[in-house]
Amino acid sequence: MSGIKEVIINKKTNINPIWIMRQAGRYLPEFREIRKKNTDFIKLCLNKDLSAEITLQPLKRFELDAAIIFSDILMVPYGLNQKVEFKKNFGPLLGNLNINELENLDEQSFTKKLNPIYQAIDLVKKDKLTDNKSTIGFVGAPWTLLVYMINKQSPKKKLIDNFYQDTFLIKKILSILEKYIKIHIKNQIDNGAEVIQIFDSWAGLLDAKNLPHFVYNPTIILVEYVKSLNVPVICFPRGIKDYKTYCEIIKPDAICIDYETNPVEIRKSIKLPVQGGMDPKTLLLEKDDLKKEIKKYLDIFKDHPYIFNLGHGVLPETDPNKMDYLVKLVKDY
Ligand code: CP3
Repeated sequence: MSGIKEVIINKKTNINPIWIMRQAGRYLPEFREIRKKNTDFIKLCLNKDLSAEITLQPLKRFELDAAIIFSDILMVPYGLNQKVEFKKNFGPLLGNLNINELENLDEQSFTKKLNPIYQAIDLVKKDKLTDNKSTIGFVGAPWTLLVYMINKQSPKKKLIDNFYQDTFLIKKILSILEKYIKIHIKNQIDNGAEVIQIFDSWAGLLDAKNLPHFVYNPTIILVEYVKSLNVPVICFPRGIKDYKTYCEIIKPDAICIDYETNPVEIRKSIKLPVQGGMDPKTLLLEKDDLKKEIKKYLDIFKDHPYIFNLGHGVLPETDPNKMDYLVKLVKDY
């Protein structure tokens, strides 16, 4: 069994498996090389051979315990026929939503459109580099996808003013997302994903009174669905203030924490296996300071089932040598 599953399923402590969010990405020169020749990000995600190759790039360099498939949470809105582009130095930009089109979706064409992602998972899973490792599939949580679908770009600190105005549209999108995120999860598992992570990157935008409707209720349905397929599920509700309540309500198999969350408090209040936490900016520090911070997380969670990861994606300006240093330190701890 992979280290990741030993921690999540068997609650093992002191083995410290490690993978890193955005481990396949812009900090790697070999990724940038491929990206330069493939200017359309969506097309790149839908190229099964390149997607598999990019997924495996970090595993060739570092002793990581998981492969996370090279794709994006916005492939679901794309599969739902909303236009999705990634503009240089801007980020994602989505097109207008057509409510009639949303009504006329069908399962087969969604799966067909996203099929290269599933083929890439199959290729990754069959590669020797992933022997004894976990292949991680992922989805965006309904709330975070709703944010992108209505806001049409990253909300950074703020949603558009009339975000909540069209309650009919919001209800419609949430029900469509529930159905299609499930299909996307099932397709990934059928093709070899052994763990699912649910990214709720914008959970922190909501105040406590809106969390039940937009985060808790839709996420519970997905978590129960993944569990019913006998696959472990990790939730990452980035930026929420109350991880304890989230865990008690959602009951994921493991919880991924962000870098603004106090790990000591988490260690005291949460019994579930924990993942992540360290600030991605730490990887920009000198090795001595980096080492202190890595040890801090490992010490705090030393008698707790813990998967090492960052508290958000690795930054593009990270030196791959620092990543190497990090992985070796965690392995030798
Ligand atoms: O973790 C991995 O290595 C797997 C691949 C992965 C990507 N995106 C590749 C990617 C994963 C798991 C994601 C998830 C994702 N995508 C999230 C949730 C996690 C988070 O960051 O909060 C979100 C919100 C997105 C949406 C998205 N995709 C944004 C906002 C951007 C642009 C800004 C950025 O952070 O890069 C992307 C583009 C994207 N997705 C890139 C990669 C490698 C960069 C593409 C490029 O310009 O080369």
